[in-house]
Amino acid sequence: MRTNSIASASAALQAGHLCAIPTETVYGLAADATNSIAIARVFAAKGRPSNHPLIVHIASGEYLGEWIREIPEWASALTNEVWPGPLTIVGLRTDLALNAVTGGQDTVAVRVPQHPVALELLQNLYDAGVPGLVAPSANRFGHVSPTNVDHVIADLGDYLLTNDDLVLDGGQCSVGVESTIVLATGEAPVILRPGAISSDDIERITGVAVGQERMESPRVSGMLDSHYAPRAKVELISESELQNYDVLAGTGLIARDFIETPAHYVRLLSANTNEDYARELYAAMRHADELELKTIVVVAPVGDDVAIAINDRLKRAAF
Ligand code: TXA
Ligand code: MG
Repeated sequence: MRTNSIASASAALQAGHLCAIPTETVYGLAADATNSIAIARVFAAKGRPSNHPLIVHIASGEYLGEWIREIPEWASALTNEVWPGPLTIVGLRTDLALNAVTGGQDTVAVRVPQHPVALELLQNLYDAGVPGLVAPSANRFGHVSPTNVDHVIADLGDYLLTNDDLVLDGGQCSVGVESTIVLATGEAPVILRPGAISSDDIERITGVAVGQERMESPRVSGMLDSHYAPRAKVELISESELQNYDVLAGTGLIARDFIETPAHYVRLLSANTNEDYARELYAAMRHADELELKTIVVVAPVGDDVAIAINDRLKRAAF
């Protein structure tokens, strides 16, 4: 079930099996994006509602036109600059995008991940006639996303093992939070989910001001109020509140490195930078559950960079 072989992963996916794959953001649970039976099994493995759309992963931006029609010029500038990288584009779908992938919407989400193993696998599959892979984060629905193979196996190992599915080991994810999702159906980019590619990055690259999201039903399950949640209760507080915050012994603490650990806390994360904070956050939350901590106190990072994505995930983990 656990493998280092891209050839085995490719063969399994072509045969309609699932394979958890590494990406630079988080591990994904992949299936052939043109095989609706395999896609149905992705939803079953995750326990995910089947109307929640999936992201299609492709080997190169050159293939984007196979999935999305009428790509705005600003979106091409963005994908040319960022891909492979932690960016997902949502655009008007072609016939290649199945209803099982899009949740029946007229748009589809596509990205080119920046992980050498994922890219080699995707190109290998493309050459074999599989144009892309769906890959939602490889965790049980609503749980913390996995950033290494052990996390995937902890969440989905039972299901994958009993069904001859694979887990492709690509080491630790380098980014640690899910891709920035950008709606690319209009004249201006709209961020549907913040990630490591920031609003400032998008404005700098496209030269277009980022627009506001139209209020609609949650098309993005990562936008549900409660998501990315460990079993432990997450309490978000500010740095100044920490000194006078009353906690039971054995409460977890997640914060930047310049914040010291008061008495009674178990330090779970002490990040040097916001990038480190993102990379290590989900592992720290999972560690709290392994230690059976009841509560994790979190001092959120500050900044216009990946801190925005971290704050978004923390709010939902704490809900
Ligand atoms: O970094 C990532 O994006 C990771 C790695 C594995 O690539 N994948 C990921 O997938 O986070 P998932 O399924 O956990 O989240 C994908 C999000 C969902 O919240 C889904 O609702 C949204 O993408 N999405 C997919 N298609 C969409 C569409 N047509 N319109 C709006 N949102 C869409
Ligand atoms: Mg997810």
